[in-house]
Amino acid sequence: MAHLSFERTATPLVRSSGAVAVHLLIWTALLLLHPSWSSHLSSFVPSVGPKRKVSCGSAFQQPRASAAAAAAATVDAVSVANDKAGSGISFQEEQITLAGGLKVPPMGVGAWQWGDSFGYWSYSPDMDPELQGIFDTCMDSGITLVDTAEVYGLGKSERLLGNFEKVYLTNTPSEPPREKTKPIVATKFAPLPWRVGRRAVVEACRDSLARLGRTQIDLYQIHFPGVWQNEAYWDGLADCYEQGLVRAVGVSNYGSDMLRKVHAKLAARNVPLATNQIQFSLLYRTPMEELAVYDTCKELNVKILAYSPLAQGLLTGKYSADDSSNYPKGPRRLLYRRTLPKAAPIIDRLRILADKYDKQPAQVALNWCVSKGVIPIPGASRLRQATSNIGALGWRLTADDVAELDTVAKRSNVRYGAGIPLPD
Ligand SMILES: NC(=O)c1ccc[n+]([C@@H]2O[C@H](COP(=O)([O-])OP(=O)(O)OC[C@H]3O[C@@H](n4cnc5c(N)ncnc54)[C@H](OP(=O)(O)O)[C@@H]3O)[C@@H](O)[C@H]2O)c1
Repeated sequence: MAHLSFERTATPLVRSSGAVAVHLLIWTALLLLHPSWSSHLSSFVPSVGPKRKVSCGSAFQQPRASAAAAAAATVDAVSVANDKAGSGISFQEEQITLAGGLKVPPMGVGAWQWGDSFGYWSYSPDMDPELQGIFDTCMDSGITLVDTAEVYGLGKSERLLGNFEKVYLTNTPSEPPREKTKPIVATKFAPLPWRVGRRAVVEACRDSLARLGRTQIDLYQIHFPGVWQNEAYWDGLADCYEQGLVRAVGVSNYGSDMLRKVHAKLAARNVPLATNQIQFSLLYRTPMEELAVYDTCKELNVKILAYSPLAQGLLTGKYSADDSSNYPKGPRRLLYRRTLPKAAPIIDRLRILADKYDKQPAQVALNWCVSKGVIPIPGASRLRQATSNIGALGWRLTADDVAELDTVAKRSNVRYGAGIPLPD
């Protein structure tokens, strides 16, 4: 059963409001049965236990020099290849202005991997120096948008991110003074069924701020449609905005109908809806081809943040249907087994285009997302992955190559099964 992570346990729960009882039962069981979950979840559940004091200092906090050394040690041929293939176009010039005025780069980085050691990703604290290196490299390259959520690692991802930001922005005496861009941090409120009323959103937002070590979140999103209380959550989101706790608001995993409703509700309070974060990749084109949500986002000027844009590693070309020896453990293994045989023509086409542009398949897959007008937020657990992904920017696939990828993808008739199914 592939429903181990939060992202996946939530999957069946948002399908219909008739699932409220099941939703409550599962979350209550998880809370009661799993000791580490109950302790972590205490910060999301006002009624469970006393509030923990959030500490930003921990064993992972490395002196900046050692983080930089780790980063330097892991930069490999990939970043050199990026430099060589650089077209000279500065993607910083392509900043995107979201409804309400927040400016973001054309691509971000996902931080679900940072802190998740529950079986979906394989985080361990000895990765922290390298993760700091990823953070620093992304910031220095203009990939200043980082996406996390309160539930990622049950708060760990936000805490790590808060520390990475602090370390990044602190100039050491050995470092020549230079201008550093302030990161744009996006996080998410999880509408868990026991969270009642608009105040729940404001309280959760304050908890996220404490874990992040910030006074303001740049983009605050509702992680998925709740099984109830949605109108109250939307009011809570607007409260956060009006109180200045957040600079912009968004939703995630919202289909067209709900998007229209939340957009109207927020508009009535003069709060612009900036983004809808949904699964979107060459292996999951459903929002564009089968649902109205892609067009509705355009119509309402709500920007799409594309999660799992590499189909969680599949579109990098590093896995093959014939050899499962390097498949990751856990739920992804099952998903890969199911998807890879039919995905082969898409991955082959990515390889051909990668050769043509002197790029890598992952970079082509991300560039395809950008060409569709969405903002991909690829996750990275290794510095070489992040440096590779940065090379997806600064150049463009031709319209013909995009169309060819579309055709191959359609013909393959395959869909990656991660993420929360979108209602229309
Ligand atoms: N709103 C939601 O419901 C939702 C759901 C899912 C994700 N998200 C967000 O979206 C972000 C991205 O999605 P995702 O992490 O599910 O999938 P993804 O970005 O498609 O895949 C990320 C994984 O692919 C592999 N990878 C990335 N770049 C690579 C490269 N250049 N070369 C080789 N391998 C590479 C790494 O896996 P390995 O290290 O295992 O090789 C990495 O952890 C998440 O971090 C999270 O912030 C949101």
